Amino acid sequence: MDLAQLERQARGKLEPGAYAYFAGGTDDEVTAAANPAAWRRLRLRPHVLRDVGEVSTATTLLGTPVSLPVMVAPMARQRLGHPDGELATQRGAAGSGALAVLSTHATASIEEVAAVAPDAPRWFQLYVHRDHSLAEGLVARAAAAGYGAVVLTVDLAVPPNRERELRTPLELPEGVGLANLPPLAGEDVRERVGSNFDPSLTLQTIDWLRGLSELPLVVKGMLRGDDAAACVEHGAAAVVVSNHGGRQLDSAVSTAEALPEVVAAVAGRAEVYVDGGIRRGTDVVKALALGARAVLVGRPILWGLTCGGAAGVRDVLEGYREELERDLALCGVPTLDQLSADLVAMPGRLGT
Ligand SMILES: Cc1cc2nc3c(=O)[nH]c(=O)nc-3n(C[C@H](O)[C@H](O)[C@H](O)COP(=O)(O)O)c2cc1C
Repeated sequence: MDLAQLERQARGKLEPGAYAYFAGGTDDEVTAAANPAAWRRLRLRPHVLRDVGEVSTATTLLGTPVSLPVMVAPMARQRLGHPDGELATQRGAAGSGALAVLSTHATASIEEVAAVAPDAPRWFQLYVHRDHSLAEGLVARAAAAGYGAVVLTVDLAVPPNRERELRTPLELPEGVGLANLPPLAGEDVRERVGSNFDPSLTLQTIDWLRGLSELPLVVKGMLRGDDAAACVEHGAAAVVVSNHGGRQLDSAVSTAEALPEVVAAVAGRAEVYVDGGIRRGTDVVKALALGARAVLVGRPILWGLTCGGAAGVRDVLEGYREELERDLALCGVPTLDQLSADLVAMPGRLGT
């Protein structure tokens, strides 16, 4: 798997504004760069002489069986990368037995995406707008269309300062409108978030959302143990350790650094997932060893989608699978439930 090369290829195909939107972060992109770097800094302490004749990457996510502990992260406006957008992404994920999360800001409808792979596991990501009836409608549609969970994203309270996007603005072509929302005020993403997103979300928002459907609630955007524990106490079935791929608060802590604190605070009461900069099978091993049940992958999926549609998405996921199988074998760990934190030498714990 050569994701750097795939990104270069995708960049060559994308309008400069679309590439800036997909690749960029906020301010100086400190956190966007820190995410992959922090996974790389961790070292593994592999076992030997364990039978790794058969290695399995299978697991369950909130009870749903998946063949891979790698999910497709929710990402907006995928038709900027490929005419089939989210439909191709869902097909590619289904082809790999991986779970895909559909963004509120998708360019294909909740129902169309469900129809391309009716039996595939998929969740719906929710942004709460000031007009709460929008969330009520979206959750009802997701439940009716067979999505298995609502993923509430909580780290977009105010518009981000994405300077790369300001330098190379995105010109929205025809056909990449938001398929699941009525026309909203605001020309670009900053104005749209500023005029429409509800900045007053609290823990009570979780209580309200839980009452809207039977679907389990996942809260995405945790970087602290106390926040994660509070979400779980309000009934979240899972939390995602995430800094939005470094696209919200720049200088926010990297997700590899935040994960152990969140895992400790949640203390087994809910599932914990993590995303941001996961680019190798070894990154997945590290995340799961540190207590995540699964990871989400963002930008590499967009590069696969841009270069090859559904097949490109599947190839990226299969690349993660191949690396993960090999890395698990080399760590002497044949199944995911045998991963534990002692497999990772944290900086400072090296040599212990
Ligand atoms: C182009 C783009 C659009 C995104 N749109 C959304 C979104 O609509 N909802 C959301 O919760 N997260 C969104 N994210 C964040 C991702 O879900 C995820 O947290 C992040 O991309 C993971 O980091 P990675 O790209 O380094 O793997 C977006 C990320 C990118 C790159």
